[in-house]
Parts: sequence; C-alpha cells; structure tokens
Amino acid sequence: MASLFKPLLICILIIFSSHSSTAQTCSSYTFSNSKIFNSCTNLPHLGASLYYNHTASTNTISIAFKAPQKSTGWIAWGLNPNGTAMVGSQAIVAFMHSNGSMVAYPTQLDSYTPSMAPATLSFPVSDVSGEYVKGDMIIYATIGLVGGSSKFNQVWQEGSSVVNDVPSAHSTTGENIKSLGTVSFQ
Ligand SMILES: *[C@@H]1O[C@H](CO)[C@@H](O)[C@H](O)[C@H]1NC(C)=O
Ligand SMILES: *[C@@H]1O[C@H](CO)[C@@H](O)[C@H](O)[C@H]1NC(C)=O
Ligand SMILES: *[C@@H]1O[C@H](CO)[C@@H](O)[C@H](O)[C@H]1NC(C)=O
Repeated sequence: MASLFKPLLICILIIFSSHSSTAQTCSSYTFSNSKIFNSCTNLPHLGASLYYNHTASTNTISIAFKAPQKSTGWIAWGLNPNGTAMVGSQAIVAFMHSNGSMVAYPTQLDSYTPSMAPATLSFPVSDVSGEYVKGDMIIYATIGLVGGSSKFNQVWQEGSSVVNDVPSAHSTTGENIKSLGTVSFQ
C-alpha cells in the first residue's frame, strides 16, 4: 500500500508548491529600497497587499501598498473614515507621470467621478512616494490616525489608463468592485 500512496503524496506536494509560488505571500517580498515593515496582509482582490508599521506612541502608520500594474496604469489605496465604500475615502494615488517619474499624492474620492487632483486629507499624510518595480506599483506614506481608532474601512483600486497625467476611471466589474474591507492596525 505504501508504494501506492507515495506517488500520490508527491503529486499533492507538487500541486501545493506550484500553487504557493504563484500566490506569493506578502511577507516574502523584499522592497527594493530595503524598507522593512512589521506587518503585512494579502488583500483579497486585485493581487494587492498592504504593509505597515504602527507606532502607537505617535498614533502613526507607515504603509506600503503594492499591486500588480502595467507602467501605463495607476493604483490607489485609502481609508474611509465615515463610510464603507469609495465615496468619502481619503486616498493616495500613484502612477507613472508622462515625464517618466512615478508620482504619488493624496486625493479625495468625494464622488463616483472624483477629479483625482491632489488634495489635503482629513488626517495628516507625509513621506508620500511611488515606485514601479517589475510589474508592481507601490505607494509609500506615513499617516496619522486621528480619533485614536486603529480600525478603519479601507478601499483599494487599480485602473489601466492615465490620460494627461490624470488617472482614468477604473473598471466597474469583477474584482474592481470588490476591493474594499476593514483594516485593523495592530
Ligand atoms: C518598521 O519598524 C522596524 C522596527 O520595529 C524598523 O526596523 C523598520 O525600519 C520600520 N519600517 C519603516 C518603513 O518605518
Ligand atoms: C467624518 O465625520 C466626522 C464627524 O461627523 C467629521 O468631523 C469629519 O470631517 C468627517 N470626515 C470626512 C472625511 O468626511
Ligand atoms: C515629473 O512630474 C512630477 C509632477 O509634476 C514632478 O514632481 C517630477 O519632479 C517630474 N520629474 C521629472 C524627471 O521631471
């Protein structure tokens, strides 16, 4: 019997190892700038992941938001202090500017057709930058968690095009309408 089970076990092991190599866990990722984050989570949609350090004494969070993207697309991540979906979200968007540099800045998602213009958010934001590495776009930022809460509604998104250095509307089907949830900064 043992000799019958052995090939089966090897098959299962091969399936498992090939599966885990495509569905890479967030903790195995090395940031090109050697930044290290204490916590990370694979978000359930769009292949995205969120990395963070929570500094309780100052109630600030240093984040990296990473998602697969083409150089012509954009990514965004945000917290919604007063709602569960897109509208009202305090976001950070990143894309490749037509001058060839990655740009990242805070923006208010104040309607379903936001301007995507740079804006001041309802919480402090600093150290914002964007990076494009091997098919992934990454947003870095430090944010102040106002109100003393560490649990928030979060949204994240990606879109395939940027026109005149303004991110165009994302798809309104499939994973692009499921990419929201809660985050609890430990
Ligand atoms: C996160 O905190 C660790 C120490 O706990 C530190 O080594 C690391 O540089 C911090 N990362 C960022 C991005 O601040
Ligand atoms: C959320 O609600 C609080 C309390 O009503 C308000 O002070 C704050 O400005 C709101 N934030 C946003 C981003 O709308
Ligand atoms: C590209 O444009 C952005 C946004 O205006 C600017 O911050 C950045 O410095 C520019 N980069 C180059 C290489 O000109």
